[in-house]
Amino acid sequence: MRQKIVAGNWKMNKNIDEAMELALSITEYQPDFSKEVKVIIAPPSLYLANLKMMKTLTCEVAAQNCSHHDYGAFTGEISAAMLKSMNVQYCIIGHSERRQYFDESNELLKKKVDTCVRNGVTPIFCIGELLEERKNNKHFITVLRQMEQSLFHLHGAELEKIIMAYEPVWAIGTGVTASSEEAQEMHAFIREQLGLHAGEGVAQNVSILYGGSVNAANSMELFACKDVDGGLVGGASLKAKDFAQIIASAG
Ligand code: PGA
Repeated sequence: MRQKIVAGNWKMNKNIDEAMELALSITEYQPDFSKEVKVIIAPPSLYLANLKMMKTLTCEVAAQNCSHHDYGAFTGEISAAMLKSMNVQYCIIGHSERRQYFDESNELLKKKVDTCVRNGVTPIFCIGELLEERKNNKHFITVLRQMEQSLFHLHGAELEKIIMAYEPVWAIGTGVTASSEEAQEMHAFIREQLGLHAGEGVAQNVSILYGGSVNAANSMELFACKDVDGGLVGGASLKAKDFAQIIASAG
């Protein structure tokens, strides 16, 4: 179902004490948040169990990645089936850092999406173009290819459960944000393509988040765009106050 979502991607940051403190601080801000906004935090996998056991935690928890296999001899990996067994309902898939530093291709990401769907874990599926691609006016084709090759084999009922995140690579961790016009233009394109592929009803049910240098100063304008349903926040999600302000600006 389409709804406002703000997700915090902690990446490989925080020791366990810092992670618990951050989660607790976010919880303390909860009374300020609209009930309409779903809040998700994605800590390093090592801390998922601690956060799931935290009785006061009011937000949802996501993994940052999972294996494309369900189980087996894959040393160091964590599967969607394991996440599900821990009641972790969300998993970021296809973050540009995974694509860039771990060579994750659209084909591999298709398998990761499938294992999530099969195991009842909702993928937060990231797409977005490189600076070079935008400069050469290839941003729409890149994003469409990412969707076609990793998502468009799904049925409408499966597709509408996925959370999309448009994250232009040039905006991630750079302090350079897409303008609200650029974000809206791409989000409208993504929704249009979902509609052409799976029907308007499905397209209208998908939440499409914007990611890339979202902060407390720019989130309000970005989230006000018609087709922007919230954000996937990296750096600014590591400070409870900033993250709380971003959440408050979503609804
Ligand atoms: P950033 O990261 O907010 O630090 O740019 C966003 C992301 O990587 O999801």
